[in-house]
Amino acid sequence: MTTVCPYTITAASVDTLADLGGQIAVLVSLNGQLGGLGTQLDARMHGALSGAVNSPAFEKASAGDCLTIGFPSGIAADAVLVVKLGADATQDEARKAGAALAKAKGDKSLHVLASDMARLTDLALGLLLRDYRFDAHMTKAPDPRGHIDFCVDDPEAARDKIAAAKDIAEGVFFTRDLTNEPANVLTTTDFADRLKAMEDIGLTVEVLEEDELERLGMGALLCVGQGSDSPTKVVVMQWNGGTEGEAPFALVGKGVVFDTGGISLKPGAGMWDMTMDMGGAGVVSGVMKTLALRKAKANVVGLVGIVENMPSGNAVRPGDVVTSMKGDTIEVQNTDAEGRLVLADVLWYAQDRFAPTGMINLATLTGAMVVALGHENAGVFSNDDTLCDAFLKAAASESEGAWRMPLGDAYDALLKSRVADMKNIGGRPAGSITAAQFLKRFVKDDMPWCHLDIAGVASRSSQTNLAPAGATGWGVMALNRLIAEHYEG
Ligand code: BES
Ligand code: MN
Ligand code: ZN
Repeated sequence: MTTVCPYTITAASVDTLADLGGQIAVLVSLNGQLGGLGTQLDARMHGALSGAVNSPAFEKASAGDCLTIGFPSGIAADAVLVVKLGADATQDEARKAGAALAKAKGDKSLHVLASDMARLTDLALGLLLRDYRFDAHMTKAPDPRGHIDFCVDDPEAARDKIAAAKDIAEGVFFTRDLTNEPANVLTTTDFADRLKAMEDIGLTVEVLEEDELERLGMGALLCVGQGSDSPTKVVVMQWNGGTEGEAPFALVGKGVVFDTGGISLKPGAGMWDMTMDMGGAGVVSGVMKTLALRKAKANVVGLVGIVENMPSGNAVRPGDVVTSMKGDTIEVQNTDAEGRLVLADVLWYAQDRFAPTGMINLATLTGAMVVALGHENAGVFSNDDTLCDAFLKAAASESEGAWRMPLGDAYDALLKSRVADMKNIGGRPAGSITAAQFLKRFVKDDMPWCHLDIAGVASRSSQTNLAPAGATGWGVMALNRLIAEHYEG
């Protein structure tokens, strides 16, 4: 498990500046104002800091950029990182600055002189998030994580601000770890065990096993896993920090720990990426973790369908007809369109058991979503403008790309089957929309609902502003914000 880099918070003191080892980060306003500690530091460095600040490089730098002064004379530190960040910095600028520090930090310890605490949470969040590494399976000892020390004027006030960042980073890291983990490690059982372990932080976690899922009639979900030796599970995570007895908001995730396509086998090239096909369930799990850590004043239930899609003598065949928990029958024309089968039953179960006030599901559902929006935006499908707009606003506030896509009865007609109530594919045109239409059949008419197709955003082949290459944790911050702004207090 990757945990957030350890950090300390100390009272800023000019007396120790010269003796600090590792690296020192100093925040400098856009117009080059050094501030109290910066001025002291500059004096110890014989003016090298003001020299840097008066250089064309500083002038050209944008807010949130970081310049490095290597081997400064007059102080013990190896480097001084000059961060261009004003007191009125935006959230994005502060996070970008934090990320720049994470990249510059490497394995050295870092002292962040942050007398100005206006954007301390965001600076810390950028730093913590960009400092993530997934090295669980590297046999060569990973570089030790450098220690972070926030040197602030008011350690007591800073503690809460940095803890707020840590609660979010822990949730995002949980999502990233789950999504990065290969399928031989993150088996269905291992996944459920990791979720069960969140009881330690106050969540109520139930694991529904196959016999129970059969009893509930989840024929759509169960057919996906019937070719795998790993047992299918549904995990229910409840956080009840809101009014007792009040209906929860529901988050539902696709947790296909590996998607071979089944009998409709995927091509070999790139199949390894399907280790991240549980990304939707990963985001739900990460959000639940953050809600519990920050003791959110809301009732939220997270439900994930955990299953492996394998070909075998027992696997579901193209043409098989299965019966969903709702009772509708489905002709499985393509065993690779398995995510919607998983979600059909878990969405229905969520409504049947919890009668939630609203519901958002996340899934790496269709390759067509990547074709449509690339890796910059998730597709958002919704039957409710209020919920959809609230989510889009929350996503925009967190700079997590999201773009609304259409639903419509005309697309729904493409799911007509000759032998059953519906088939699980709608053909090549509008592949992401027909998948969403399929899900919509399992959402009750008056239930506010969003489907987030995160196929393009769950994982990236190169680094982003706040994450190294690999799983991004996209959506944890947007959903956490949505809940904070609309379901608390
Ligand atoms: N997990 C895939 C979708 C996917 C593709 C996610 C690429 C991330 C990157 C999903 O189960 C799938 O295979 N979908 C099929 C649907 C088709 C058979 C209708 C697809 O997109 O090809
Ligand atoms: Mn598939
Ligand atoms: Zn899949």
